[in-house]
Amino acid sequence: MSSTSPSEQIDEVKEREHFRAVVSAFKYYKLCCLDRIHKSEKIISALPMSHQKHLEKYTTYLTKFKKCLDVNNSVVHMIIKDVDTMFENVEHSADGATNGTESFGCDYNNCEIVSQKQHKMHHDVEKVQSVLKNIVRDWSAQGAAEREQCYKPILDEIEELFPPDEVTDLRNIKVLVPGAGLGRLAWEIAARGYTCQGNEFSLFMLFASNFILNRCPEANKYTVHPWLHQYVNNLTCDHQLLSATFPDVSPARDKPGHANFSMTAGDFLKVYTDPEEWSCVATCFFIDCAPNVIEFIERIYSILQPGGYWINLGPLLYHYR
Ligand SMILES: C[S@@+](CC[C@H](N)C(=O)[O-])C[C@H]1O[C@@H](n2cnc3c(N)ncnc32)[C@H](O)[C@@H]1O
Repeated sequence: MSSTSPSEQIDEVKEREHFRAVVSAFKYYKLCCLDRIHKSEKIISALPMSHQKHLEKYTTYLTKFKKCLDVNNSVVHMIIKDVDTMFENVEHSADGATNGTESFGCDYNNCEIVSQKQHKMHHDVEKVQSVLKNIVRDWSAQGAAEREQCYKPILDEIEELFPPDEVTDLRNIKVLVPGAGLGRLAWEIAARGYTCQGNEFSLFMLFASNFILNRCPEANKYTVHPWLHQYVNNLTCDHQLLSATFPDVSPARDKPGHANFSMTAGDFLKVYTDPEEWSCVATCFFIDCAPNVIEFIERIYSILQPGGYWINLGPLLYHYR
């Protein structure tokens, strides 16, 4: 007999569906992105040859675009390889839909997403595209200037409040980073010797951070074209095709051996209910993600130890205006 209640079972089913939808977005990344290019190619091929000749520069750009897309797609494949076993307590592969090694070849015009949920799929694929940009912000040399602006003030503040040369054992200082994104800030805090836990609820982010944090033993081994899908703020077409290598450090190899670092998956409000557990909560571009910002602030207050600190940078978007 099942020990879970009907509502828990419904939640589980929904979670599985969501998991599969996110994996599908990674799987169909290339096909969805090619759709736009195929439309352009179709329009060009319908033109008279004399007109097509004027578009040679553009067709060369399209060819280069497709090569960059292949490069991104190979990273996207690696990210979802083995995600079935990512969460110790959940096995998704029984549904037969999340095997990252299966063939991604599919006739786009016939595949089920066209008839079913193409709109949602495109929306989800945009999130995959945004993950690629986030990889560069968090884990590439090109992102260093941006990290300097948003993570360094937080790291400096932590070191001022809990000075490494005064605290007997930095591991006793427990720092929580809710809304950790791809985990760089949380990793940097742990690399400085503090105990740090990042928390994130987006599977898009969790899949990518799992790949970078656990499966990238070599620095700068992989290449992405992060701005490939950005059609604004480019001075030339070539800017759209620029590449970046990642990760700029090897997260598993380059953190000190004594570092105590972990990531949790789930909604901050659901995962963190124990009072007075944390010495410090560090939030970066997070509190604007709250449907009710006061609830977030009250929760941060209650999980902090007496005399603990909340360090915040951001907001940015105010998602629930
Ligand atoms: C704007 S991003 C910032 C990510 C990271 N802190 C950074 O600065 O790059 C906010 C992150 O918070 C996550 N998030 C939003 N609400 C959350 C919640 N209730 N629990 C856990 N994560 C959440 C989002 O998925 C997103 O990755």
